[in-house]
Amino acid sequence: MKLPIIIDTDPGQDDAVAILLALASPELEVLGITAVAGNVPLSLTEVNARKVCELAGRPEIKVYAGAIRPLLHNLVTAEHVHGKTGLDGPVLAEPTMPLQKQHAVDFIIETLMSRPAGTVTLATLGPLTNIALALIKEPLIASRIKRIVAMGGGFFEGGNITPAAEFNIYVDPHAARLVLDAGIPFTLIPLDCTHQALTTKARVEKFRSMENNSGPATALMMDFFERFDVEKYGTDGGPLHDPCVIAWLLRPELFTSRDVNVVVECESPLTMGMTVVDWWRVTARKPNATVCRGINSDGFFDLLTERLAKLA
Ligand code: BDR
Ligand code: CA
Repeated sequence: MKLPIIIDTDPGQDDAVAILLALASPELEVLGITAVAGNVPLSLTEVNARKVCELAGRPEIKVYAGAIRPLLHNLVTAEHVHGKTGLDGPVLAEPTMPLQKQHAVDFIIETLMSRPAGTVTLATLGPLTNIALALIKEPLIASRIKRIVAMGGGFFEGGNITPAAEFNIYVDPHAARLVLDAGIPFTLIPLDCTHQALTTKARVEKFRSMENNSGPATALMMDFFERFDVEKYGTDGGPLHDPCVIAWLLRPELFTSRDVNVVVECESPLTMGMTVVDWWRVTARKPNATVCRGINSDGFFDLLTERLAKLA
């Protein structure tokens, strides 16, 4: 049986690759894609999500627009990383598939309330605003979610938008805190893990040589996306964050993790959005997340390459 998932996302080149990986994977049933404001404003992320579905040859996938801004803070975007469109790199056609009329938050609630409890997984690739709003609007969904698998946070690795905070959590720390506190099975894939998944030249060339649309388009996205991180970290390639979420759903054995407590800092201006991970279990706070620390990066890229090659 396929695992039903909703992908909540702010594409973003790495979000795009995560969507492609999910759509290429027969183990997963993508019930819908919900867009949120993050890397770029919502008006672009929802369009980008549809562009990616069409790139994958899957225009029948339902895409919904969600929150236009974080719960309390003003929106912070990342055009300096992702470019003006959020998907700079390849030239992708304007989508012709429609945006769904229903609001993303209502789609999430309706799906969780109508499907059997404990069956639907949320794969979140951006700020957690849509998920927090869904929990506020219909708290009963908390006990119906099978698991949330989220890219976000960083602990030993520190942050990437401030010294303490990772982008997805920093953009909407209050949403992240609310979601982590909701008692839902939660897997966190932080920078500690994604910084090991580097788009080296050799790996990107495998995408470029594929004889379909998605492989070369992915290579062009990586060429653009990694330039910022390559300069920042001095590595061969940049971290490919969001596809790690989908990889965890497909092959959790590629990751090392611990069940520990995570609290999101929402008060200090200096460390706003920091994920305070009790890795060494030095507090009495109960574990609320499976936190990943390591990834078998060759295994991850083998999986990604095998799957992208299968797309139309
Ligand atoms: C996260 O922030 C975004 O820029 C990426 O898409 C990823 O979800 C990495 O910190
Ligand atoms: Ca993202």
